Amino acid sequence: MSTKPILSVPTEQLENTTFDATMEERILELLKRYPTTRATLIPVLWLCQERYGWLAPGVIRAVADRLGESPAYVEGVATFYTMFYTKPPAKFVLQACETLSCAVCGGKELLHHLESRLGIKPGEKTPDGVFQLVGVQCLGACGTAPVVQINDDYYENLTIERLDAVLDDLKGRS
Ligand code: FES
Repeated sequence: MSTKPILSVPTEQLENTTFDATMEERILELLKRYPTTRATLIPVLWLCQERYGWLAPGVIRAVADRLGESPAYVEGVATFYTMFYTKPPAKFVLQACETLSCAVCGGKELLHHLESRLGIKPGEKTPDGVFQLVGVQCLGACGTAPVVQINDDYYENLTIERLDAVLDDLKGRS
């Protein structure tokens, strides 16, 4: 598997975000697919995160303007879900599942290993900005526990050795 790194656009470049023709076209497609404008909020945020790497305040304001919502409402939705980044993320975000099936299949040991190998706790980034650790609830892949999601990819049936090999590979490509 070759997980793509997240390339975050710097905050200052997103200060006065406006949507170009490509983004506008994709937003219009989403608006056609949902019954109300408000219902497109999460897909539009996802689209923006895919494009800019994260949801900077300037992006939140642009989404609010485009969908006719208040920035506070959009920010409330963006900060509710762990899948949205409201701060610039590391290149690789490691979401370690902490729920029961993963926990009893070695997930706790994987999380402890990540903490000690990377020298960070959940919620933190390594100083070089390559890895970020997040503890999350069930990723919906309990049958292949333990699971760590890295950016958009699932790494399943993990052992400490396999996880180390994955991290070595990602570090080498960062
Ligand atoms: S408990 Fe970890 S994926 Fe469900």
